[in-house]
Amino acid sequence: QLGGPHFGYHVLLGRRDARSASNEAANTSLPSPSSSFSELLSNFKSHGLGLKDLVALSGAHTIGFAQCSSFRDRIYNDTNIDPKLASYLKLQKCPQSGGDSNLAPFDSTNKIFDNVYYKQLLDNKGLLHSDQELFKGNNSESDRLVKLFTRNPVAFAKRFGHSMIKMGNMKPLTGNEGEIRINCRKVN
Ligand code: HEM
Repeated sequence: QLGGPHFGYHVLLGRRDARSASNEAANTSLPSPSSSFSELLSNFKSHGLGLKDLVALSGAHTIGFAQCSSFRDRIYNDTNIDPKLASYLKLQKCPQSGGDSNLAPFDSTNKIFDNVYYKQLLDNKGLLHSDQELFKGNNSESDRLVKLFTRNPVAFAKRFGHSMIKMGNMKPLTGNEGEIRINCRKVN
């Protein structure tokens, strides 16, 4: 619906959901927007994912918004940020104090699933510190993947699908653990 790849990817059916969620567990296992590249990579590796998964799945930030509290440090402290973007965000979205929940779009086409997220990384326009960590302009393997996904949207779409399936297969609940939801928005 948001313009993703027309060939799509085959989501496996029947993954069991947990019956409860833990804010604390999520906060300890998820990477943070202030993570460095090596922290992001070791976090992904601890879940059985690799560098290509990290770069491709971060492309999900082609959609949606982040809160000021998630990108404040980046716009006030990072040096590898486009100066116009930084001053726009400081003035319009994210004062030094207050406005914590104000939203800014991840990329300029944040209602469309496309590769503009990566194009903006090449211009130092990543919204989160963790986004810009994927492209530093030093010809690292991560830099090269970002560039590939910029010039080849089909390569991005294929790798995104592959990595989504891989992420969906992480530590599945089996047997009587969890449940298959009747309505995916709520526990049975
Ligand atoms: C690489 C490590 C990642 C970090 C550090 C990260 C961090 C974040 C942060 C801080 C936000 C904004 C939350 C807020 O301000 O309330 C966000 C939003 C979002 N993330 Fe990530 N994320 C990562 C990977 C992913 C992955 C793998 C996916 C999915 C494949 C994803 C999909 C999204 C989406 C769709 C949103 C927007 C949600 C909305 O607008 O409601 N992110 N992420």
